[in-house]
Amino acid sequence: MALLLLLLLAVSVVNADEDSYIGVNIGTDLSDMPHPTQVVALLKAQQIRHVRLYNADTAMLLALANTGIKVIVSVPNEQLLGIGQSNSTAANWVSRNVVAHYPATNITAISVGSEILTTLPNAAPVLVNALKFIHSALLASNLDRQIKVSTPLSTSIILDSFPPSQAFFNRSWNPVLVPMLNFLQSTGSFLMLNIYPYYDYMQSNGVIPLDYALFRPLTPNKEAVDANTLLHYSNVFDAMVDATYFAMGFLNFTNIPVLVTESGWPSKGDSNEPDATLENANTYNSNLIRHVLNKTGTPKHPGISVSTYIYELYNEDTKAGPVSEKNWGLFDANGVPIYILHLTGSGMVLANDTTNQTYCTAKDGADPKMLQAALDWACGPGKVDCSPLSQGKPCYEPDNVVAHATYAFDTYYHKMGKTPDTCDFNGVAAVTTTDPSHGSCIFPGSLGKNGTFVNVTAPSMNSTTSGSPAHNLYGGDFTSFITIVRVLIWSAVFL
Ligand SMILES: *[C@@H]1O[C@H](CO)[C@@H](O)[C@H](O)[C@H]1NC(C)=O
Ligand SMILES: *[C@@H]1O[C@H](CO)[C@@H](O)[C@H](O)[C@H]1NC(C)=O
Ligand SMILES: *[C@@H]1O[C@H](CO)[C@@H](O)[C@H](O)[C@H]1NC(C)=O
Ligand SMILES: *[C@@H]1O[C@H](CO)[C@@H](O)[C@H](O)[C@H]1NC(C)=O
Ligand SMILES: *[C@@H]1O[C@H](CO)[C@@H](O)[C@H](O)[C@H]1NC(C)=O
Ligand SMILES: *[C@@H]1O[C@H](CO)[C@@H](O)[C@H](O)[C@H]1NC(C)=O
Ligand SMILES: *[C@@H]1O[C@H](CO)[C@@H](O)[C@H](O)[C@H]1NC(C)=O
Ligand SMILES: *[C@@H]1O[C@H](CO)[C@@H](O)[C@H](O)[C@H]1NC(C)=O
Ligand SMILES: *[C@@H]1O[C@H](CO)[C@@H](O)[C@H](O)[C@H]1NC(C)=O
Ligand SMILES: *[C@@H]1O[C@H](CO)[C@@H](O)[C@H](O)[C@H]1NC(C)=O
Repeated sequence: MALLLLLLLAVSVVNADEDSYIGVNIGTDLSDMPHPTQVVALLKAQQIRHVRLYNADTAMLLALANTGIKVIVSVPNEQLLGIGQSNSTAANWVSRNVVAHYPATNITAISVGSEILTTLPNAAPVLVNALKFIHSALLASNLDRQIKVSTPLSTSIILDSFPPSQAFFNRSWNPVLVPMLNFLQSTGSFLMLNIYPYYDYMQSNGVIPLDYALFRPLTPNKEAVDANTLLHYSNVFDAMVDATYFAMGFLNFTNIPVLVTESGWPSKGDSNEPDATLENANTYNSNLIRHVLNKTGTPKHPGISVSTYIYELYNEDTKAGPVSEKNWGLFDANGVPIYILHLTGSGMVLANDTTNQTYCTAKDGADPKMLQAALDWACGPGKVDCSPLSQGKPCYEPDNVVAHATYAFDTYYHKMGKTPDTCDFNGVAAVTTTDPSHGSCIFPGSLGKNGTFVNVTAPSMNSTTSGSPAHNLYGGDFTSFITIVRVLIWSAVFL
């Protein structure tokens, strides 16, 4: 009987008709926000085909027209009350921000507010009306099949999320969530979810292992086992998605897909945010991208795609809050990658420029004696052809140990297939995305002027658009006593 029920649940859920994809959120809280045409140039260069905006900025929507890029537009939280209280306000919003741009700009969804229940609870009573009014306006324009309507939820409204099979929505929100899920189900939409394993990890006081948050391989005996379902969890992301499926299931909704509208990891933080590092951000986002594109699904629904929008495209330097708030981006305002994602073999997204255009250079401030030793090693036992460094040859000038070591390091790094461990040289070398070529000294790996790299350097432009909402650091009720107790009990399986 129980088996039959499980089978029924398994087939009733979510059809897997679309491939998983990776999208990127575009927050605009930058002091030198690139012009929309430059944003789009970066998206194209990086083969990013899905984006989510935090508003419906006209210039951005015009720049995205006829690019093939699929766009989620957002009703900003400050407009939610007005739209939820008046269907004509909603209809005007849709006509100005959606109908006016479609289909040249391929708007595929509208996210109505963001994390309203946790960040703007006094607007919660009108949230479902806002969804319905926006949907009615789309229906009136005959766009309701092409454009889905939903609202991103924070995972902090899911209580007892460990183990996933016991997760449920905070019951005080049921009066909003039940009609919302009814709406999503009847309109064929998805549940939008913002998942931040970084915060889950930070708040767990060491209970959640870093490897588990970062999708790093765990030995099977360290995987978290849900004692009720016997499903094995190897990362926080999957556990959160499954917790959400179970929480919906307890309200008898079993066929609403999950779309992850935000997930990411900060690359820099305050002294009390020691795990906001370049390496962790790179590991999280690289593994997340591979996980999503591999169509692995989750333990509860293997093979069911959970498409995900990375938070976020740019570092937002004008964001308030701790240092980490300003450092969630994949790129700086000039379109230069903050770090080089490890995506080799994962195909189409963020692949070409960020994986290929890397160089190995001598570190700034490295000890000249160590550089000289490493240079001698590279040109000797390392078997680098260092002849371009001799007098009269293209790479002789500038004649100093840093420049010569950089040439030798980069040549060795490319010779060895650009594996990260071949750009170390006892700590005096580092990978960079800046091409060190100069004059007629062309470095290995340089695409030169004939390369595919798009010059996306942004002139300083005044931002006219509003940025993404601040994160609710340590937000919600996640640290409630009962949750921690559950986490502690469940985490015993890690030990
Ligand atoms: C708005 O609501 C009114 C009254 O409920 C209704 O008559 C009207 O058709 C609605 N308009 C739209 C655009 O949905
Ligand atoms: C927009 O994207 C959807 C989803 O991929 C696709 O089916 C549709 O053909 C696109 N529409 C236009 C006008 O390009
Ligand atoms: C879900 O469905 C079951 C069986 O039909 C019913 O007993 C239960 O009350 C429902 N739960 C909710 C929250 O509607
Ligand atoms: C993709 O998934 C398959 C099976 O689901 C797995 O064997 C493989 O290791 C995965 N690849 C990556 C790169 O994660
Ligand atoms: C690189 O870009 C080319 C052309 O845009 C594309 O055909 C190819 O699949 C990309 N390679 C990777 C690894 O994504
Ligand atoms: C990127 O690297 C791969 C593997 O090294 C190579 O096949 C491909 O041609 C490179 N792409 C570009 C644009 O250089
Ligand atoms: C690079 O482009 C220039 C002109 O655009 C051309 O003359 C030259 O042959 C190209 N070089 C290579 C290596 O393709
Ligand atoms: C990129 O564009 C900027 C401004 O237009 C220009 O100064 C710079 O030389 C360009 N860089 C390359 C590599 O073309
Ligand atoms: C940006 O704003 C400043 C002051 O508000 C103004 O002087 C300048 O012309 C603006 N620049 C652009 C490119 O709009
Ligand atoms: C559930 O949500 C309500 C309303 O926001 C909040 O007051 C309460 O603390 C939450 N309960 C838990 C256990 O987090």
